[in-house]
Amino acid sequence: MKRLEDKVIVITGAALGLGYATALVAAKEGAKLSLVDYNGETLAKAKKSILREYPATEILDIIADVSDEAAVKAYVDQTVKAYGRIDGFYNNAGIEGRQAPMTEYDLEVFKKVIDINLLGVYFGMKYIIPVMQQQQYGRIVNVASVGGIRAVMNQTPYVASKHAVSGMTKNAALEYGRYGIQTNAIAPGAILTPMVAEAFKQVNPADPKKAEDEYAQANPTKRLGKPEEVGKLVCFLLSEDCSYVSGQVIAIDGGQSNSYGNV
Ligand SMILES: NC(=O)c1ccc[n+]([C@@H]2O[C@H](COP(=O)([O-])OP(=O)(O)OC[C@H]3O[C@@H](n4cnc5c(N)ncnc54)[C@H](O)[C@@H]3O)[C@@H](O)[C@H]2O)c1
Repeated sequence: MKRLEDKVIVITGAALGLGYATALVAAKEGAKLSLVDYNGETLAKAKKSILREYPATEILDIIADVSDEAAVKAYVDQTVKAYGRIDGFYNNAGIEGRQAPMTEYDLEVFKKVIDINLLGVYFGMKYIIPVMQQQQYGRIVNVASVGGIRAVMNQTPYVASKHAVSGMTKNAALEYGRYGIQTNAIAPGAILTPMVAEAFKQVNPADPKKAEDEYAQANPTKRLGKPEEVGKLVCFLLSEDCSYVSGQVIAIDGGQSNSYGNV
């Protein structure tokens, strides 16, 4: 039996990067998918390419902005209408914002990062937890970041929002563990997705590959992470195999966040 056989899994930010990579692993593991993203064009492409690899996968694709509470309620309702339940929730959609020192940070961008990364994650749990409570079963994986456990230069709102995700994860685990709901967060380091590629362009517009190589040198493994490596961890946390891990913020960063000084 596959690890997620017939489990209904909702993934936000599913069109690209970590969301898409996790959707692929979940499809391989037999899940029925509800894929949510605010970019309808890339979401349609993602659905097509998952079906090319795993043609038997049931996929509901929903265009929604996770920072819009009504849209979140609607994607949850649509998923329940289609599948009758929600077993796992990968609460992943997020943005980095711009890179700037704290005192110079653009307020509009600051608010947008908080709206998507903090409120978007909260709204998702607000509407999915009651479904899981009814079932007396659920697995939630929120996406924090190493920026949810450590400081990161020039990324104040991102770090604030991701620390909030770590905190909300611990609270959800505390408040809803009695209903068979286990909630964890992952804290990825630099994983080579479109979001991270964009960050390297900001660091060194003339030579983003150089910025990437320099960044990798600070990692004990001397490389960046791969999206599918994150997908495999998430699918374990979304499965019944994850039966007594809850309220944890699990770093997936090659060990980098433990270091002090040069590696
Ligand atoms: N890639 C990394 O190294 C890394 C590290 C730490 C944390 N993260 C976190 O992982 C998550 C995914 O990052 P990624 O690197 O895959 O990013 P990405 O930019 O490659 O993909 C993000 C996806 O989310 C969608 N999205 C963004 N805002 C949305 C919204 N408001 N509503 C619906 N969909 C939205 C985008 O359209 C896109 O498809 C984010 O929360 C990010 O902060 C990533």
